[in-house]
Amino acid sequence: MSDVSFTVNGRRVSGSAEDRTLLVHFLREHLGLTGTHVGCDTSQCGACVVHVDGKAVKSCTMLAAQASGSTIVTIEGLADGAELHPVQASFKEHHGLQCGFCTPGMIMTATDMIARHPEGLDEAMVRAELEGNICRCTGYHNIVKAILAASETMAKGAKGKAKQAA
Ligand code: FES
Ligand code: FES
Repeated sequence: MSDVSFTVNGRRVSGSAEDRTLLVHFLREHLGLTGTHVGCDTSQCGACVVHVDGKAVKSCTMLAAQASGSTIVTIEGLADGAELHPVQASFKEHHGLQCGFCTPGMIMTATDMIARHPEGLDEAMVRAELEGNICRCTGYHNIVKAILAASETMAKGAKGKAKQAA
């Protein structure tokens, strides 16, 4: 067993985990954060993506003990109270989901992708970046549309804030 402690969605949490416990299982089973899904056992589907120290990570590829000391954000930590994160709002507006199973991972991947490309994204970039996220329902078209729209909205928001500060 190892002692683990992290900041998850702004809250300090600690506990103990078997050395072989994967981060995704710790989040789901010890912390009850079941928005992070497990869709495969081959690290291919991306349903388990969370942010670890600001980077999108497949939480089935990391041990809970390895993540100890990190700052983690899961899908439950993305909204600002009742206000959806712009990527969540865009998925809703552009019908970027059907069954919703892949959606938490898609959204966590998308927020990381948008943050790494403040200059903007195009369709080819989004499709290439989604290589590690599988959706069995949507055919991806509306997911790509939702991400592109969110990227534009967030870029406009950032410009607006910069103008206000000037
Ligand atoms: S559960 Fe499928 S990639 Fe992690
Ligand atoms: S919406 Fe069903 S798997 Fe993507």
